[in-house]
Amino acid sequence: MWASKRAGAVPGSVFALMDAAKERARATGYSVIDLSIGSSDQPPPEAALEALRAATRDPATYRYPLFSDTRPLREAAAAYLQRRFGLAVDAEAEVLPLIGAQEGLAHLLLAVTDPGDTLLLPDPCYPPYLGAAAVAGLNVLTLPLLPERGFLPDLDAVPANVRPRVLLLNYPNNPTSAVADTAFFARAAAWCRSRGALLIHDHPYAELTFGDYRAPSALEAGLTGSVELHSLSKTHHLGGFRVGFAVGDRQAIAALARVKSTVDFHPYLGIQRAATAALGLPDEVGRTGARVFQQRRDALVPALRHLGWEVALPQASMYVWARVPGLEDSVAYALRAAETTGVVVSPGRAFGERGEGFVRFALVQPPELLTEAARRLAGVPVQDEAPLPTR
Ligand SMILES: Cc1ncc(COP(=O)(O)O)c(C=O)c1O
Repeated sequence: MWASKRAGAVPGSVFALMDAAKERARATGYSVIDLSIGSSDQPPPEAALEALRAATRDPATYRYPLFSDTRPLREAAAAYLQRRFGLAVDAEAEVLPLIGAQEGLAHLLLAVTDPGDTLLLPDPCYPPYLGAAAVAGLNVLTLPLLPERGFLPDLDAVPANVRPRVLLLNYPNNPTSAVADTAFFARAAAWCRSRGALLIHDHPYAELTFGDYRAPSALEAGLTGSVELHSLSKTHHLGGFRVGFAVGDRQAIAALARVKSTVDFHPYLGIQRAATAALGLPDEVGRTGARVFQQRRDALVPALRHLGWEVALPQASMYVWARVPGLEDSVAYALRAAETTGVVVSPGRAFGERGEGFVRFALVQPPELLTEAARRLAGVPVQDEAPLPTR
């Protein structure tokens, strides 16, 4: 009775099902290898933790932070964007701290759309995008991300009469690990201009790149008409601290600040100081974390290929997206795998219809456990041949 239509429209999550399966596997005595959630298992940089520790001893951090208090973090973000992507950003009007990119997206949609507006979303996508769209009352149209197109959407295939308010993209991509180049973002920005849409680029994996590959910013094609969401969750392993920032079109940033002013008071100052310290660190610190994920990728991908699975070698992100030959029900498969081997993966279907036939591995365990997971999965039937064991 007390759930609004808006709350009721937020889709349920397959991850709750997987969590229950994980518990059943544990109860049966399996050692669980959990590769389902993309939460970094690495520690944050010591400089960030030290800044936070010191802040907790500074009474000036105990009050509500005001916008002016966010200046050091906004300036650190602008300096990072300049250093890393060559972007000239006005830290006063074009950057806003967030309580994570996920919070930022939900509020940004509320800030720049009206109920009934159209949102163009990739399929598959990070599941909370659908919840954020539901909360904002948006009409969602999906853009298929297909392996034969490198998991990049075909914007030219969108009918000319479709006038979305927002196009939402994410590269390096969750769940597919695909990457996009500067030319793609320039085309996407031009397409958005031609359709009167705002381009939102969700960029939490900006620094989780492997070898010589460096992910570009969508804003290299210009700030007007685009907003990019950055996060310190993955790049600096600060997921639990909830901090990131939005950057881009000043009207959209002002609208976001307005919506957020009714909801929160910016992140705790100590967390802002931790993020400021993290953003000021030399690039090499971030590279070290990325190399850990790269080593894990290098352990898991050959092990999955050995099973006959189709897996591209990711250039970025913390995921491996594998197409399993013959797989028709990835949710049933993932439940079966969890309950009969203790290996917990994310079913591709959890990310959208186009995710069916795939499973996603989060590279959040050491290489030896990843190869052990692949070894255990070799014994799991792809189709539901036998009924699940009853216990
Ligand atoms: C594409 C994408 N966006 C946003 C987030 C969440 O970022 P944050 O921790 O900054 O809210 C994630 C986390 O997995 C993600 O994969």
